[in-house]
Amino acid sequence: PASSTTQATGASRHAADNTLIDPARPSTRQNGAPAESDRDSLTVGPDGPIVLHDVQLVETLASFNRERVPERSPHAKGSGAFGRFEVTADVSAYTRAAVFQPGASSRMLARFSTVAGEQGSPDTWRDVRGFALRFYTEEGNLDIVGNNTPVFFLRDPMKFPHFIRSQKRLPDSGLRDNTMQFDFWTLNPESAHQVTYLMGDRGLPRDWRHMNGYSSHTYSWINADGERFWVKYHFISDQGVENMTNEEAARLAGADADFHRRDLFEAIERGEFPSWTVKVQLMPYADAKTYRFNPFDLTKVWPHADYPLVEVGRFTLDENPANFFAQIEQAAFAPSNTVPGTGVSPDKMLLGRMFAYADAQRTRIGSNYNQLPVNQPVHPVNSYTFDGHMRYEHSGAAPVYAPNSFGRPHADETGPVENSWESDGELVRSASTLHVEDDDFGQAGALVREVWDDAARDRFVETVSDILVTVREPVLSNAFQYWRNVDEATGARIEARVRATLNA
Ligand code: HEM
Repeated sequence: PASSTTQATGASRHAADNTLIDPARPSTRQNGAPAESDRDSLTVGPDGPIVLHDVQLVETLASFNRERVPERSPHAKGSGAFGRFEVTADVSAYTRAAVFQPGASSRMLARFSTVAGEQGSPDTWRDVRGFALRFYTEEGNLDIVGNNTPVFFLRDPMKFPHFIRSQKRLPDSGLRDNTMQFDFWTLNPESAHQVTYLMGDRGLPRDWRHMNGYSSHTYSWINADGERFWVKYHFISDQGVENMTNEEAARLAGADADFHRRDLFEAIERGEFPSWTVKVQLMPYADAKTYRFNPFDLTKVWPHADYPLVEVGRFTLDENPANFFAQIEQAAFAPSNTVPGTGVSPDKMLLGRMFAYADAQRTRIGSNYNQLPVNQPVHPVNSYTFDGHMRYEHSGAAPVYAPNSFGRPHADETGPVENSWESDGELVRSASTLHVEDDDFGQAGALVREVWDDAARDRFVETVSDILVTVREPVLSNAFQYWRNVDEATGARIEARVRATLNA
Protein backbone atom coordinates (compact mmCIF):
# COMPACT_ATOMS: atom_id res chain seq x y z
CA PRO A 1 0.00 0.00 0.00
CA ALA A 2 2.99 2.32 -0.14
CA SER A 3 4.48 4.64 -2.73
CA SER A 4 7.52 3.68 -4.76
CA THR A 5 9.71 5.53 -2.30
CA THR A 6 8.60 3.48 0.66
CA GLN A 7 8.83 0.24 -1.23
CA ALA A 8 12.53 0.74 -1.81
CA THR A 9 14.49 -0.98 0.90
CA GLY A 10 17.92 -0.78 2.44
CA ALA A 11 20.67 1.35 1.03
CA SER A 12 18.81 2.37 -2.09
CA ARG A 13 16.41 4.45 -0.04
CA HIS A 14 19.17 6.83 0.97
CA ALA A 15 21.13 6.57 -2.24
CA ALA A 16 21.92 9.16 -4.84
CA ASP A 17 19.30 7.82 -7.26
CA ASN A 18 16.47 8.61 -4.90
CA THR A 19 14.95 11.26 -7.14
CA LEU A 20 11.29 11.63 -7.91
CA ILE A 21 11.89 13.92 -10.88
CA ASP A 22 13.01 12.92 -14.35
CA PRO A 23 15.10 15.91 -15.41
CA ALA A 24 14.92 14.86 -19.06
CA ARG A 25 11.14 15.42 -19.28
CA PRO A 26 9.60 18.84 -19.97
CA SER A 27 8.41 20.49 -16.77
CA THR A 28 4.91 20.09 -15.37
CA ARG A 29 2.63 21.92 -12.99
CA GLN A 30 2.15 20.47 -9.52
CA ASN A 31 -0.79 18.39 -10.75
CA GLY A 32 1.47 16.69 -13.27
CA ALA A 33 -0.04 18.35 -16.33
CA PRO A 34 2.40 19.99 -18.78
CA ALA A 35 3.53 23.48 -17.80
CA GLU A 36 2.90 26.06 -20.48
CA SER A 37 5.95 28.17 -19.68
CA ASP A 38 8.73 28.64 -17.15
CA ARG A 39 9.60 32.06 -18.61
CA ASP A 40 6.58 34.16 -19.44
CA SER A 41 3.69 35.03 -17.15
CA LEU A 42 0.19 35.07 -18.60
CA THR A 43 -0.74 38.70 -19.31
CA VAL A 44 -3.51 40.65 -20.99
CA GLY A 45 -1.55 41.54 -24.10
CA PRO A 46 2.26 41.55 -24.05
CA ASP A 47 2.50 44.53 -21.66
CA GLY A 48 -0.79 44.06 -19.81
CA PRO A 49 -1.45 42.94 -16.22
CA ILE A 50 -0.86 39.35 -15.12
CA VAL A 51 -3.85 37.20 -14.22
CA LEU A 52 -4.53 35.13 -11.12
CA HIS A 53 -5.44 32.04 -13.08
CA ASP A 54 -1.83 31.74 -14.27
CA VAL A 55 -1.49 28.69 -12.08
CA GLN A 56 2.08 28.14 -13.19
CA LEU A 57 3.13 31.61 -11.98
CA VAL A 58 1.21 31.24 -8.71
CA GLU A 59 2.80 27.87 -8.02
CA THR A 60 6.26 29.17 -8.92
CA LEU A 61 6.03 32.11 -6.50
CA ALA A 62 4.23 30.21 -3.75
CA SER A 63 6.72 27.38 -3.79
CA PHE A 64 9.64 29.82 -3.69
CA ASN A 65 8.13 31.51 -0.63
CA ARG A 66 8.20 28.18 1.17
CA GLU A 67 11.58 26.84 0.03
CA ARG A 68 13.40 27.25 3.33
CA VAL A 69 12.97 25.22 6.45
CA PRO A 70 14.36 26.90 9.57
CA GLU A 71 18.04 26.26 10.01
CA ARG A 72 19.21 24.11 12.91
CA SER A 73 19.26 26.28 16.01
CA PRO A 74 22.83 25.31 16.86
CA HIS A 75 25.01 23.67 14.19
CA ALA A 76 23.27 25.46 11.31
CA LYS A 77 26.26 25.52 8.95
CA GLY A 78 27.54 22.16 7.85
CA SER A 79 27.59 19.45 5.27
CA GLY A 80 28.26 15.78 4.99
CA ALA A 81 28.51 12.61 2.98
CA PHE A 82 27.46 8.98 2.93
CA GLY A 83 29.78 6.07 3.48
CA ARG A 84 30.22 2.69 5.06
CA PHE A 85 31.22 1.45 8.50
CA GLU A 86 33.04 -1.85 8.77
CA VAL A 87 33.82 -3.73 11.95
CA THR A 88 37.50 -4.79 12.10
CA ALA A 89 37.70 -6.21 15.63
CA ASP A 90 35.65 -8.30 18.04
CA VAL A 91 33.81 -6.32 20.72
CA SER A 92 30.97 -8.82 21.01
CA ALA A 93 31.91 -9.40 24.65
CA TYR A 94 30.71 -5.85 25.36
CA THR A 95 27.75 -5.25 23.07
CA ARG A 96 25.19 -7.34 21.28
CA ALA A 97 24.46 -4.55 18.77
CA ALA A 98 24.42 -6.08 15.27
CA VAL A 99 26.25 -3.04 13.89
CA PHE A 100 29.31 -3.81 16.06
CA GLN A 101 29.50 -7.59 15.53
CA PRO A 102 32.59 -9.03 13.78
CA GLY A 103 32.36 -8.66 10.00
CA ALA A 104 29.33 -6.33 10.08
CA SER A 105 29.13 -3.58 7.49
CA SER A 106 26.60 -0.73 7.54
CA ARG A 107 25.80 2.18 5.32
CA MET A 108 26.16 5.51 7.09
CA LEU A 109 25.86 9.27 6.90
CA ALA A 110 28.13 11.87 8.51
CA ARG A 111 27.46 15.58 8.94
CA PHE A 112 30.09 18.05 10.12
CA SER A 113 29.23 21.55 11.26
CA THR A 114 30.12 24.65 13.20
CA VAL A 115 28.04 25.36 16.31
CA ALA A 116 27.33 29.06 16.56
CA GLY A 117 27.26 30.45 13.04
CA GLU A 118 24.25 30.63 10.76
CA GLN A 119 23.78 28.85 7.43
CA GLY A 120 25.97 31.26 5.49
CA SER A 121 28.66 31.79 8.10
CA PRO A 122 32.31 31.03 7.35
CA ASP A 123 33.49 27.49 7.96
CA THR A 124 36.77 28.76 9.40
CA TRP A 125 35.51 30.84 12.32
CA ARG A 126 36.95 29.46 15.56
CA ASP A 127 34.36 27.08 16.98
CA VAL A 128 33.77 23.56 18.15
CA ARG A 129 32.90 21.33 15.17
CA GLY A 130 29.90 19.01 15.13
CA PHE A 131 30.61 15.40 14.22
CA ALA A 132 27.26 13.69 13.68
CA LEU A 133 27.16 10.07 12.56
CA ARG A 134 24.24 7.91 11.52
CA PHE A 135 24.58 4.16 11.08
CA TYR A 136 21.77 2.57 9.04
CA THR A 137 21.88 -0.73 10.92
CA GLU A 138 19.81 -3.87 10.51
CA GLU A 139 18.25 -3.07 13.91
CA GLY A 140 17.36 0.55 13.19
CA ASN A 141 19.21 3.86 12.93
CA LEU A 142 21.99 4.43 15.43
CA ASP A 143 23.05 8.09 15.70
CA ILE A 144 26.13 9.25 17.55
CA VAL A 145 25.91 13.04 17.55
CA GLY A 146 29.25 14.23 18.86
CA ASN A 147 31.86 16.92 18.38
CA ASN A 148 35.54 17.20 17.45
CA THR A 149 36.36 17.64 21.14
CA PRO A 150 35.99 14.96 23.83
CA VAL A 151 34.31 17.27 26.36
CA PHE A 152 31.63 19.95 26.48
CA PHE A 153 31.02 23.34 28.14
CA LEU A 154 28.30 22.22 30.55
CA ARG A 155 26.97 19.41 32.65
CA ASP A 156 23.31 20.36 33.00
CA PRO A 157 20.91 20.67 30.03
CA MET A 158 19.07 23.55 31.73
CA LYS A 159 22.04 25.74 30.79
CA PHE A 160 22.28 24.77 27.12
CA PRO A 161 19.87 27.31 25.60
CA HIS A 162 21.55 30.09 27.62
CA PHE A 163 24.93 28.93 26.39
CA ILE A 164 23.89 28.90 22.73
CA ARG A 165 22.30 32.35 23.02
CA SER A 166 25.54 33.71 24.46
CA GLN A 167 27.36 32.33 21.40
CA LYS A 168 24.90 33.80 18.92
CA ARG A 169 24.00 37.48 18.61
CA LEU A 170 23.17 40.49 20.79
CA PRO A 171 19.48 41.29 20.94
CA ASP A 172 19.84 44.94 19.88
CA SER A 173 22.64 45.15 17.32
CA GLY A 174 22.48 41.58 16.04
CA LEU A 175 26.26 41.38 16.49
CA ARG A 176 28.27 38.57 17.99
CA ASP A 177 29.95 39.63 21.20
CA ASN A 178 33.05 38.38 23.01
CA THR A 179 31.89 39.98 26.27
CA MET A 180 28.67 37.97 26.20
CA GLN A 181 30.56 34.75 25.44
CA PHE A 182 33.11 35.21 28.20
CA ASP A 183 30.44 36.40 30.62
CA PHE A 184 28.65 33.08 30.21
CA TRP A 185 31.83 31.02 30.36
CA THR A 186 33.34 32.71 33.40
CA LEU A 187 30.06 32.50 35.33
CA ASN A 188 29.90 28.78 34.47
CA PRO A 189 33.40 27.58 35.35
CA GLU A 190 32.66 24.00 34.33
CA SER A 191 33.16 25.34 30.78
CA ALA A 192 36.93 25.73 31.36
CA HIS A 193 38.05 22.44 29.85
CA GLN A 194 36.08 22.89 26.64
CA VAL A 195 36.97 26.59 26.30
CA THR A 196 40.64 25.66 26.66
CA TYR A 197 40.24 23.16 23.79
CA LEU A 198 38.37 25.75 21.76
CA MET A 199 41.05 28.44 22.18
CA GLY A 200 43.77 25.89 21.43
CA ASP A 201 44.79 24.56 18.03
CA ARG A 202 41.76 22.28 17.70
CA GLY A 203 39.44 25.28 17.59
CA LEU A 204 40.53 25.76 13.96
CA PRO A 205 40.63 22.40 12.16
CA ARG A 206 42.29 22.50 8.72
CA ASP A 207 39.29 20.71 7.26
CA TRP A 208 36.78 18.09 8.36
CA ARG A 209 38.89 15.25 6.99
CA HIS A 210 41.71 16.14 9.37
CA MET A 211 39.84 16.16 12.64
CA ASN A 212 38.87 13.49 15.15
CA GLY A 213 35.37 13.02 16.45
CA TYR A 214 34.17 12.02 19.91
CA SER A 215 30.87 10.97 21.40
CA SER A 216 32.03 13.11 24.31
CA HIS A 217 29.25 11.64 26.44
CA THR A 218 29.43 8.33 28.19
CA TYR A 219 26.98 5.88 26.63
CA SER A 220 26.23 2.29 27.60
CA TRP A 221 26.66 -1.05 25.91
CA ILE A 222 24.97 -4.28 26.86
CA ASN A 223 26.16 -7.71 25.75
CA ALA A 224 24.25 -10.87 24.90
CA ASP A 225 24.38 -11.97 28.56
CA GLY A 226 22.81 -8.71 29.71
CA GLU A 227 26.09 -7.40 31.16
CA ARG A 228 26.45 -3.60 30.99
CA PHE A 229 29.47 -1.40 30.25
CA TRP A 230 29.95 2.34 30.09
CA VAL A 231 31.44 3.46 26.78
CA LYS A 232 32.94 6.54 25.15
CA TYR A 233 33.37 6.57 21.35
CA HIS A 234 36.43 8.00 19.59
CA PHE A 235 36.66 8.51 15.82
CA ILE A 236 40.32 8.91 14.93
CA SER A 237 41.05 10.52 11.57
CA ASP A 238 43.13 8.24 9.35
CA GLN A 239 44.27 11.43 7.56
CA GLY A 240 45.81 12.69 10.82
CA VAL A 241 44.84 15.79 12.79
CA GLU A 242 45.75 19.13 11.19
CA ASN A 243 44.74 22.63 12.16
CA MET A 244 45.15 26.11 10.71
CA THR A 245 46.51 29.38 12.01
CA ASN A 246 44.37 32.35 13.04
CA GLU A 247 45.69 34.26 10.02
CA GLU A 248 44.84 31.56 7.51
CA ALA A 249 41.40 31.03 9.03
CA ALA A 250 40.67 34.77 8.87
CA ARG A 251 41.81 34.94 5.24
CA LEU A 252 39.67 31.95 4.25
CA ALA A 253 36.63 33.31 6.09
CA GLY A 254 36.63 36.05 3.46
CA ALA A 255 38.05 34.22 0.46
CA ASP A 256 35.98 31.05 0.71
CA ALA A 257 33.33 30.88 3.43
CA ASP A 258 32.53 27.31 2.37
CA PHE A 259 36.10 26.06 2.56
CA HIS A 260 35.36 22.98 4.66
CA ARG A 261 32.21 22.06 2.77
CA ARG A 262 34.08 22.37 -0.53
CA ASP A 263 37.08 20.40 0.72
CA LEU A 264 35.01 17.34 1.65
CA PHE A 265 32.87 17.40 -1.48
CA GLU A 266 35.81 17.83 -3.83
CA ALA A 267 37.95 15.20 -2.09
CA ILE A 268 35.16 12.65 -2.53
CA GLU A 269 34.65 13.75 -6.14
CA ARG A 270 38.38 13.10 -6.74
CA GLY A 271 38.06 9.62 -5.25
CA GLU A 272 40.01 10.53 -2.11
CA PHE A 273 37.73 8.93 0.45
CA PRO A 274 38.42 10.04 4.03
CA SER A 275 38.21 7.43 6.76
CA TRP A 276 38.18 7.27 10.53
CA THR A 277 39.11 4.45 12.89
CA VAL A 278 36.38 3.81 15.43
CA LYS A 279 37.62 3.12 18.95
CA VAL A 280 35.97 2.97 22.34
CA GLN A 281 36.91 3.34 25.97
CA LEU A 282 35.08 0.78 28.09
CA MET A 283 34.40 1.07 31.80
CA PRO A 284 32.98 -1.89 33.73
CA TYR A 285 29.53 -1.00 35.04
CA ALA A 286 30.49 -1.15 38.72
CA ASP A 287 33.51 1.18 38.35
CA ALA A 288 31.25 4.21 37.87
CA LYS A 289 30.33 4.44 41.55
CA THR A 290 33.86 4.52 42.85
CA TYR A 291 35.83 6.19 40.04
CA ARG A 292 37.76 9.25 41.18
CA PHE A 293 35.45 11.64 39.32
CA ASN A 294 31.93 11.35 38.03
CA PRO A 295 32.35 9.36 34.81
CA PHE A 296 29.11 10.88 33.49
CA ASP A 297 30.46 14.42 33.79
CA LEU A 298 30.64 15.68 30.20
CA THR A 299 33.36 18.21 31.06
CA LYS A 300 35.87 15.42 31.75
CA VAL A 301 37.82 12.90 29.70
CA TRP A 302 38.62 9.44 31.00
CA PRO A 303 42.41 9.17 31.01
CA HIS A 304 43.56 6.49 28.56
CA ALA A 305 45.81 5.10 31.27
CA ASP A 306 42.66 4.14 33.20
CA TYR A 307 40.55 3.05 30.22
CA PRO A 308 42.62 2.39 27.08
CA LEU A 309 41.26 2.71 23.56
CA VAL A 310 39.84 -0.49 22.09
CA GLU A 311 39.51 -0.76 18.31
CA VAL A 312 36.08 -1.47 16.83
CA GLY A 313 36.17 -0.66 13.12
CA ARG A 314 36.57 1.95 10.43
CA PHE A 315 34.22 4.17 8.47
CA THR A 316 34.89 5.64 5.07
CA LEU A 317 32.97 8.44 3.35
CA ASP A 318 32.76 7.71 -0.35
CA GLU A 319 29.50 9.19 -1.63
CA ASN A 320 28.53 12.83 -1.89
CA PRO A 321 24.94 13.88 -1.38
CA ALA A 322 22.96 13.93 -4.60
CA ASN A 323 20.81 16.67 -3.12
CA PHE A 324 21.98 18.88 -0.28
CA PHE A 325 18.52 19.85 0.93
CA ALA A 326 16.97 16.38 0.87
CA GLN A 327 19.89 14.50 2.35
CA ILE A 328 21.85 16.95 4.52
CA GLU A 329 19.53 19.79 5.49
CA GLN A 330 16.65 17.46 6.25
CA ALA A 331 18.79 14.85 7.97
CA ALA A 332 17.55 14.54 11.53
CA PHE A 333 20.29 13.20 13.80
CA ALA A 334 19.30 12.45 17.38
CA PRO A 335 21.13 10.90 20.35
CA SER A 336 17.82 9.21 21.15
CA ASN A 337 18.29 7.02 18.06
CA THR A 338 19.79 4.00 19.82
CA VAL A 339 19.63 0.32 18.82
CA PRO A 340 19.60 -2.89 20.89
CA GLY A 341 22.97 -3.33 22.61
CA THR A 342 23.56 0.44 22.83
CA GLY A 343 22.06 2.87 25.30
CA VAL A 344 22.53 6.12 27.15
CA SER A 345 23.82 6.85 30.65
CA PRO A 346 23.04 8.99 33.69
CA ASP A 347 24.87 11.95 32.03
CA LYS A 348 22.29 14.71 32.56
CA MET A 349 23.27 16.49 29.36
CA LEU A 350 22.69 13.34 27.36
CA LEU A 351 19.34 12.80 29.03
CA GLY A 352 18.36 16.37 28.10
CA ARG A 353 19.40 15.66 24.52
CA MET A 354 17.14 12.60 24.44
CA PHE A 355 14.23 15.02 24.26
CA ALA A 356 15.72 18.01 22.47
CA TYR A 357 16.60 16.69 19.02
CA ALA A 358 13.43 14.98 17.87
CA ASP A 359 11.46 17.87 19.33
CA ALA A 360 13.55 20.39 17.35
CA GLN A 361 13.12 18.32 14.21
CA ARG A 362 9.36 18.07 14.55
CA THR A 363 9.25 21.83 14.27
CA ARG A 364 12.27 22.41 11.99
CA ILE A 365 11.34 19.84 9.35
CA GLY A 366 7.80 18.73 10.21
CA SER A 367 6.19 16.23 12.52
CA ASN A 368 6.62 13.31 10.11
CA TYR A 369 10.27 14.06 9.31
CA ASN A 370 11.13 10.39 9.92
CA GLN A 371 9.40 9.44 6.70
CA LEU A 372 11.97 11.31 4.60
CA PRO A 373 14.27 8.86 2.83
CA VAL A 374 17.42 10.09 4.57
CA ASN A 375 15.79 9.47 7.94
CA GLN A 376 14.27 6.09 7.17
CA PRO A 377 15.85 3.02 8.72
CA VAL A 378 16.88 0.01 6.63
CA HIS A 379 13.75 -1.91 7.52
CA PRO A 380 10.40 -0.12 7.44
CA VAL A 381 9.07 1.50 10.59
CA ASN A 382 6.19 -0.41 12.15
CA SER A 383 5.00 2.02 14.77
CA TYR A 384 1.64 2.87 16.26
CA THR A 385 2.33 6.61 15.88
CA PHE A 386 -0.28 7.83 13.56
CA ASP A 387 -1.34 10.44 10.97
CA GLY A 388 -0.33 14.11 11.21
CA HIS A 389 0.83 16.62 8.59
CA MET A 390 2.16 15.12 5.37
CA ARG A 391 1.91 11.53 6.58
CA TYR A 392 2.01 9.17 3.61
CA GLU A 393 3.34 5.98 5.19
CA HIS A 394 0.49 4.03 6.71
CA SER A 395 -0.52 0.61 7.89
CA GLY A 396 -3.49 0.16 5.59
CA ALA A 397 -6.46 -1.32 7.38
CA ALA A 398 -4.34 -2.94 10.11
CA PRO A 399 -5.40 -2.21 13.71
CA VAL A 400 -4.32 1.23 14.92
CA TYR A 401 -4.29 0.26 18.62
CA ALA A 402 -2.39 -2.23 20.74
CA PRO A 403 -3.04 -4.78 22.01
CA ASN A 404 -5.57 -6.06 19.48
CA SER A 405 -7.15 -9.36 18.51
CA PHE A 406 -6.59 -8.98 14.78
CA GLY A 407 -3.04 -10.07 14.14
CA ARG A 408 -0.98 -6.88 14.51
CA PRO A 409 1.47 -7.56 17.35
CA HIS A 410 2.56 -5.08 19.93
CA ALA A 411 6.12 -4.67 21.23
CA ASP A 412 8.02 -7.76 22.27
CA GLU A 413 8.67 -7.12 25.97
CA THR A 414 10.84 -10.15 26.63
CA GLY A 415 14.18 -8.39 26.04
CA PRO A 416 16.15 -6.33 28.58
CA VAL A 417 15.46 -2.64 29.18
CA GLU A 418 18.46 -1.22 27.33
CA ASN A 419 18.58 2.20 28.93
CA SER A 420 18.60 1.03 32.49
CA TRP A 421 20.72 1.58 35.57
CA GLU A 422 20.19 1.62 39.30
CA SER A 423 19.03 4.92 40.65
CA ASP A 424 17.65 6.01 43.97
CA GLY A 425 17.44 9.15 46.04
CA GLU A 426 15.45 12.21 46.86
CA LEU A 427 14.55 14.56 44.00
CA VAL A 428 17.06 17.43 44.16
CA ARG A 429 18.50 20.18 41.97
CA SER A 430 22.20 19.77 42.51
CA ALA A 431 25.47 18.95 40.78
CA SER A 432 27.28 15.74 41.65
CA THR A 433 29.84 16.11 44.43
CA LEU A 434 30.16 12.47 45.35
CA HIS A 435 33.52 11.84 43.71
CA VAL A 436 36.87 13.06 44.99
CA GLU A 437 37.91 14.87 41.79
CA ASP A 438 34.62 16.49 40.75
CA ASP A 439 36.20 19.87 39.97
CA ASP A 440 36.05 22.42 37.14
CA PHE A 441 39.64 23.32 36.36
CA GLY A 442 41.85 20.24 36.91
CA GLN A 443 41.69 18.64 33.47
CA ALA A 444 41.81 22.02 31.70
CA GLY A 445 45.07 22.79 33.52
CA ALA A 446 46.48 19.37 32.66
CA LEU A 447 45.71 20.00 28.99
CA VAL A 448 47.64 23.28 29.04
CA ARG A 449 50.58 22.00 31.11
CA GLU A 450 50.95 18.35 30.13
CA VAL A 451 49.50 17.87 26.65
CA TRP A 452 50.58 21.08 24.89
CA ASP A 453 54.16 22.14 24.12
CA ASP A 454 55.56 25.66 24.47
CA ALA A 455 54.58 26.65 20.93
CA ALA A 456 50.97 25.50 21.44
CA ARG A 457 50.83 27.43 24.75
CA ASP A 458 52.17 30.54 22.98
CA ARG A 459 49.50 30.32 20.28
CA PHE A 460 46.85 29.81 22.97
CA VAL A 461 47.96 32.91 24.92
CA GLU A 462 47.92 34.94 21.71
CA THR A 463 44.45 33.73 20.66
CA VAL A 464 42.85 34.30 24.06
CA SER A 465 44.52 37.69 24.55
CA ASP A 466 43.47 38.95 21.13
CA ILE A 467 39.87 38.10 21.99
CA LEU A 468 39.98 39.49 25.53
CA VAL A 469 41.09 42.96 24.39
CA THR A 470 37.51 43.34 23.10
CA VAL A 471 35.89 42.20 26.36
CA ARG A 472 34.37 44.73 28.77
CA GLU A 473 34.60 44.87 32.57
CA PRO A 474 33.56 43.25 34.85
CA VAL A 475 33.85 40.26 32.53
CA LEU A 476 37.47 41.00 31.66
CA SER A 477 38.65 40.65 35.26
CA ASN A 478 36.61 37.49 35.66
CA ALA A 479 38.27 36.12 32.53
CA PHE A 480 41.76 36.81 33.94
CA GLN A 481 40.81 34.87 37.07
CA TYR A 482 39.26 32.07 35.02
CA TRP A 483 42.50 31.50 33.10
CA ARG A 484 44.57 31.74 36.31
CA ASN A 485 42.34 29.02 37.74
CA VAL A 486 43.13 26.88 34.70
CA ASP A 487 46.86 27.54 34.94
CA GLU A 488 48.40 30.29 37.07
CA ALA A 489 51.39 30.99 34.80
CA THR A 490 49.39 30.98 31.57
CA GLY A 491 46.69 33.14 33.13
CA ALA A 492 49.31 35.66 34.23
CA ARG A 493 50.76 35.78 30.71
CA ILE A 494 47.29 36.39 29.24
CA GLU A 495 46.59 39.22 31.68
CA ALA A 496 49.97 40.87 31.02
CA ARG A 497 49.51 40.71 27.26
CA VAL A 498 45.98 42.10 27.35
CA ARG A 499 46.95 44.94 29.71
CA ALA A 500 49.94 45.81 27.52
CA THR A 501 47.68 46.07 24.46
CA LEU A 502 45.00 48.06 26.27
CA ASN A 503 47.58 50.46 27.70
CA ALA A 504 49.45 50.90 24.42
C1 HEM B 1 22.38 19.95 16.91
C2 HEM B 1 20.29 20.65 21.22
C3 HEM B 1 24.36 19.30 23.44
C4 HEM B 1 26.25 18.08 19.16
C5 HEM B 1 21.48 20.28 17.89
C6 HEM B 1 20.14 20.71 17.65
C7 HEM B 1 19.54 20.89 18.85
C8 HEM B 1 20.52 20.60 19.86
C9 HEM B 1 18.11 21.34 19.13
C10 HEM B 1 19.49 20.90 16.28
C11 HEM B 1 18.88 19.59 15.84
C12 HEM B 1 18.19 19.71 14.52
O1 HEM B 1 17.47 20.71 14.30
O2 HEM B 1 18.34 18.79 13.67
C13 HEM B 1 21.20 20.32 22.19
C14 HEM B 1 20.94 20.34 23.62
C15 HEM B 1 22.09 19.97 24.24
C16 HEM B 1 23.08 19.71 23.19
C17 HEM B 1 19.62 20.72 24.26
C18 HEM B 1 22.42 19.82 25.70
C19 HEM B 1 21.53 19.56 26.62
C20 HEM B 1 25.21 18.81 22.48
C21 HEM B 1 26.44 18.13 22.75
C22 HEM B 1 26.97 17.78 21.56
C23 HEM B 1 26.07 18.25 20.52
C24 HEM B 1 26.99 17.86 24.14
C25 HEM B 1 28.24 17.03 21.25
C26 HEM B 1 28.81 16.20 22.08
C27 HEM B 1 25.36 18.50 18.21
C28 HEM B 1 25.60 18.32 16.79
C29 HEM B 1 24.49 18.86 16.14
C30 HEM B 1 23.60 19.35 17.16
C31 HEM B 1 26.82 17.68 16.13
C32 HEM B 1 24.27 18.91 14.64
C33 HEM B 1 23.68 17.60 14.16
C34 HEM B 1 23.59 17.60 12.66
O3 HEM B 1 24.65 17.60 12.01
O4 HEM B 1 22.47 17.64 12.15
N1 HEM B 1 21.70 20.24 19.24
N2 HEM B 1 22.50 19.94 21.98
N3 HEM B 1 25.02 18.88 21.12
N4 HEM B 1 24.16 19.12 18.40
FE1 HEM B 1 23.33 19.51 20.16
